[in-house]
Amino acid sequence: MRISVLEILIGDLRGGHLFRYGDIIRFAVDEAYANDAQAPLLSLSMLAGDPAQQRAFFFDSLNPVLNSLGEGKLPAFFQNLLPEGGLRDHIVAERNCDPNDHFEILAACGGDLPGNVYALPARDGHLTAQLVTQNKESIEVSVVDDPLEDGVSISGMQPKIALLKKGGRFVAARNLDSGHVIGKLPTSQFDLLPQVEELSLRLATAAGVNACTATLQPLELIDASHWYDLGDTDQFLAVERFDRDRPGRLHAEDFAQILSVDPARKYTGGTYADIASVMLAVDGLGMSAVKELLRRIAVSELVGNYDFHLKNIGVLHFPGRRIELSPAYDIVAYSVYMGGRGHALAFSAGMKKHHMLDPASLRGFCDALGLSEPALRAVISDVCARALEHWPEMIEASTLRPEQKKRLVEFIKSRPVLQSFLRRRRTPHPWRDQAAPTNQPPEVDVP
Ligand SMILES: Nc1ncnc2c1ncn2[C@@H]1O[C@H](COP(=O)(O)OP(=O)(O)OP(=O)(O)O)[C@@H](O)[C@H]1O
Ligand SMILES: [Mg+2]
Repeated sequence: MRISVLEILIGDLRGGHLFRYGDIIRFAVDEAYANDAQAPLLSLSMLAGDPAQQRAFFFDSLNPVLNSLGEGKLPAFFQNLLPEGGLRDHIVAERNCDPNDHFEILAACGGDLPGNVYALPARDGHLTAQLVTQNKESIEVSVVDDPLEDGVSISGMQPKIALLKKGGRFVAARNLDSGHVIGKLPTSQFDLLPQVEELSLRLATAAGVNACTATLQPLELIDASHWYDLGDTDQFLAVERFDRDRPGRLHAEDFAQILSVDPARKYTGGTYADIASVMLAVDGLGMSAVKELLRRIAVSELVGNYDFHLKNIGVLHFPGRRIELSPAYDIVAYSVYMGGRGHALAFSAGMKKHHMLDPASLRGFCDALGLSEPALRAVISDVCARALEHWPEMIEASTLRPEQKKRLVEFIKSRPVLQSFLRRRRTPHPWRDQAAPTNQPPEVDVP
């Protein structure tokens, strides 16, 4: 039997090995890691209640979290570490491997994965392979090549490159240096996309969301080759990475990983209530994270960010197993480009994906979690109040094209949740829909 082996490290600590034999890929956890209740966590999806349950979880050879279902696919946690979109095409071409060869793509990017995980060619592959097969078969361990020099993995479908900020310029990220930035590039598909995303993140911040730091930068500051068609704009979005330079790497994972869902199911593999349910169970997240989730949902609804899926929210793992919600990223007012309705995920099981934020969806969300509604309604009201106070000026002062500003404002104004808030507040505002009679009962029951 031919086996390929990668060593999986969290920082400099070995968690175990990834084995590929045939089209099966399996994560075999080291004894020492399994027995160390203080060791840094690889994933909340791998956390059990007590030490005995933890061992049972790690050493269950059929555990779906640790085993792929065949077809050469990686278990979900690892599959979500792979690059996507143009970055994936680039890595596949450089590594000269099959685009569906998950194991090889992971190995190609194994030195620079999201968070603080490494997947490196195993030093003692033969020994550990024997452990896995319990010496029942003769084994031939295949050589796995070292990671590519520029093998950086960042997920997501939009055109992007990994950069390092150096002396006021942006160079290709090729080593473990500091200054890590995700360069989100303009595209001929969406006019001024970096500007729209930069504004969207600022609108979110003004509405009380804790968003990551991202600035518009001239494309000419990039000293790195890339392979994208950039359209005819001259700026890109430089997103500062929250999982780098802390100093060194900070472990991070997204909710597709936490819920053990393949990236292909990032729109269907869970609901907002599933995310909130994890939050309520994890020390350090709890109700304040649930409120932040709802704040991000409300902002997404107002600006038309139809893409708030399982990979667009995640957590940070600090030393001592302390968990925090990651700053928000990838908030984009797609209403500037296209009509759309509702959200990327359903609010709770049994609800349709395109449900808007309204009394029914909020009730479904709260019922699924056993939460009472008023505290969460207050979050929605607060987002509306802040949006009305800050957004008109911010949008007007932005560098979007006049027709883009108009489309965005018209979209926001037409949101039932905002009009309901305005009717209840009864104070004049230029965004108030004058056509709606003031004594009409609110469509959305927010205070
Ligand atoms: N500030 C950040 N720090 C660290 N990692 C980040 C940051 N922003 C984004 N990421 C990671 O990079 C991935 C891709 O970023 P982003 O979601 O912005 O790209 P995208 O191509 O627009 O995604 P999508 O396919 O959802 O449209 C995210 O899923 C997340 O894992
Ligand atoms: Mg994304």
